[in-house]
Amino acid sequence: MAKPKTFFACQSCGSISPKWLGKCPDCGGWNTMVEEREVVDTSPRASVSRLTGAEKNHPTPIAQIVSEGEHRTSLGIGELDRVLGGGLVKGSVVLVGGDPGIGKSTLMLQAMEELASRGVRVLYVSGEESPRQIKLRGERLGATSEGLLVLAENSLEDILRHASEVGPGAIVVDSIQTLYTPDISSAPGSISQVREGAARLVMYAKTTGTPVFIVGHVTKDGSIAGPRVLEHMVDTVLYFEGDRGHAFRILRAVKNRFGSTNEIGVFEMKGAGLREVKNPSEIFLAERLPDVTGSAVVSTVEGTRPIMAELQALVTPSSFGTPRRTAIGVEYGRFTLLLAVLEKRVGLHLMGQDVYVNVVGGLKVEEPSVDLGLIAAVASAFKDMPVPARTVLMGEVGLGGEVRAVTNAEMRVREAAKLGFDRCIMPRSNLKKLPKIKGIELVGVDQVDGALEALFG
Ligand code: TYD
Ligand code: MG
Repeated sequence: MAKPKTFFACQSCGSISPKWLGKCPDCGGWNTMVEEREVVDTSPRASVSRLTGAEKNHPTPIAQIVSEGEHRTSLGIGELDRVLGGGLVKGSVVLVGGDPGIGKSTLMLQAMEELASRGVRVLYVSGEESPRQIKLRGERLGATSEGLLVLAENSLEDILRHASEVGPGAIVVDSIQTLYTPDISSAPGSISQVREGAARLVMYAKTTGTPVFIVGHVTKDGSIAGPRVLEHMVDTVLYFEGDRGHAFRILRAVKNRFGSTNEIGVFEMKGAGLREVKNPSEIFLAERLPDVTGSAVVSTVEGTRPIMAELQALVTPSSFGTPRRTAIGVEYGRFTLLLAVLEKRVGLHLMGQDVYVNVVGGLKVEEPSVDLGLIAAVASAFKDMPVPARTVLMGEVGLGGEVRAVTNAEMRVREAAKLGFDRCIMPRSNLKKLPKIKGIELVGVDQVDGALEALFG
């Protein structure tokens, strides 16, 4: 028998090399190459042919394909349903990624309990916790339904065997990093094991029509195979993010074959599990103090929902030659670019000043529409003059100091008016197309100068 081929796979990005390397040539990680043995039928192509082998495929004119509107099951958690695109699709595979301790297991157990409480038999497989630990967690969450079956198991073969015996309406595998199959020689959590585990779960989902949730940890140093290598194998990828110091958690769809991406769900971690946050803006603005300098309210659209957030800036004289720039929740490159615009186009002398920016509540805002708000927050901190408490700002700022149009302007303005804001500083080009909206004065500007003038006189 021929000796099985071995190769070296980067445990962080999945890059493959025939010989050992100290540094991965693709992701630059050090000491991430681990020897793995090739298994003939784990190549993606082989698993695809196994998946589709049952049916005879032939080219069909698209007009003749019968489309059955996909059937969706509500999970009873509105925020989760929204992120999935309006409920769970039969036979779909959903990867739920996120840092350890962020609340993935909690969310999954809650979702399964919701299904079980409506009479669906569901299987929650954990390779990380014992049934008693899961029971303890379940007690906090109020998960007591008959139909919620718990299995503590690492072996892929055993999990699939139990699954076909039980025939559940949905399965959670928590987590993919603990799955193990003896077909592959490397340790659980290595790229090959993770990939093989996911391929078999995908095959199970597609052949039986059972929705499968796969939980995966992402680590920053990449020492464990991250679920990123799985993204192309599954239908939907959800990332659960948030700051562990904050109670807010954001569930974000980064890939969805059955719905829009960019949709987010907002949760709050409480003593009894995750609670949905139906109106995020109210929460993110709840503790805002009026008339504090360096604070500005912006509006960011996530999927189909506008969310208002508070940006805070602090400007202090620098005690070192090179001033410090720190930004949390906004993109660093954009932040320094906007500081340069303030310096050059508005004439604020920020050279000798440290500038700190933070988005309240652990939120991340990455849309260019928050540019104007960021500029206003920094200018307010520098001038020591507050932005009026009930003013909201929106607009992308160009390098020339011009204020450019934003998308979904009307939706943003309506949300602001609903929350009691009475003035909106926005791009003039957007203003022209907007109808009058009750209770809010719209101020159109073309230049950063003009916006600062409108704010501080
Ligand atoms: P967990 O779901 O175990 O995270 P993950 O599966 O992503 O690793 O969540 C762990 C954190 O959540 C832990 O720090 C405790 C906290 N928590 C609560 O605050 N309330 C709760 O009801 C539960 C179950 C957990
Ligand atoms: Mg967990």
